[in-house]
Amino acid sequence: MLLEVRDLHVEFHTRDGVAKAVNGVSYGVDAGETLAVLGESGSGKSVTAQAVMGILDIPPGRITGGEVVFQGRDLLRLKEDERRRVRGAGMAMIFQDALSSLNPVLSVGDQLGEMFTVHRGMSRKDARAKAVELMDRVRIPAARERVKQYPHQFSGGMRQRIMIAMALALEPALIIADEPTTALDVTVQAQVMELLAELQREYRMGLILITHDLGVVADVADRIAVMYAGRIVESAPVHDIYKAPAHPYTRGLLESIPRLDQKGQELYAIKGLPPNLMSIPPGCAFHPRCPLARDVCRTDEPPLYEVSPTRGSACHFWRECMDD
Ligand SMILES: Nc1ncnc2c1ncn2[C@@H]1O[C@H](COP(=O)(O)OP(=O)(O)OP(=O)(O)O)[C@@H](O)[C@H]1O
Ligand code: SF4
Ligand SMILES: [Mg+2]
Repeated sequence: MLLEVRDLHVEFHTRDGVAKAVNGVSYGVDAGETLAVLGESGSGKSVTAQAVMGILDIPPGRITGGEVVFQGRDLLRLKEDERRRVRGAGMAMIFQDALSSLNPVLSVGDQLGEMFTVHRGMSRKDARAKAVELMDRVRIPAARERVKQYPHQFSGGMRQRIMIAMALALEPALIIADEPTTALDVTVQAQVMELLAELQREYRMGLILITHDLGVVADVADRIAVMYAGRIVESAPVHDIYKAPAHPYTRGLLESIPRLDQKGQELYAIKGLPPNLMSIPPGCAFHPRCPLARDVCRTDEPPLYEVSPTRGSACHFWRECMDD
């Protein structure tokens, strides 16, 4: 495994109390593999990614347990300067909002070039050539001219491409993309996602793709991890999940995808709201919203049951869910 997160726990200490944002997450990704992480807002997708990248806000955040093993080393046990080296060269992150991640007062050429002058000790001239090359790679038209422009002079889709170029610059082994296309128009979303998937294959990178969009997942992901209240509730190869979800929450997510052949029909939505992370329901955290819930669900927290050697579900009644 390129990256293996094991039993990760993260809390936020705030004036109102302790929010248990990540409660024993384990997932892994191999070189050349794409893991999609799904789940409603607040389920802990980004916080888990931030802990992996080493960019968590500490405080108020606090990692209270677990390991993040990357290329054989537990990153949580490295000193900050070693950690920074891994972050620079080994892994990179792409965020939803390029405009707030890119520096507004530096040209994109200077920002891309900095990756090479700072991390690779290249001359400014060589770094500029590399910047143009990268802009070509992410298919920004007229790269040679546009390299001098500033982030606000690019469209949203082009800015996301620049972010992808920044992330690729040092040829990392792992990229974490946190809702990389959410802020874009639907057609542009598809183009940017296709580009990312293509580059991921070509560079044989591991990719963790955090997304709300189940539509894109089927095309680009190898595996899916579904998060609820800071836990993985189902983890499986993508095709298994689409064939028959083994967790009622996954089923709810799948049934809320708009389908072209069902135009006009009302969308199924999971009833109720995600739990308050300061008082997560006992037993199965999903029980107040679950159509299959019964007494045992209110008292006994389900472990991740083995559904198959490559698949797990944290539901006492996963068999019933699959047969339904
Ligand atoms: N800086 C912070 N301070 C306090 N609490 C935080 C902070 N960041 C995250 N949290 C807590 O962690 C929870 C999980 O946040 P996270 O950003 O991981 O959700 P997410 O699954 O990425 O949601 P979204 O789909 O909206 O991006 C939040 O609901 C919040 O309670
Ligand atoms: S354990 Fe019970 S409440 Fe939780 S998902 Fe399964 S059936 Fe629903
Ligand atoms: Mg998020």
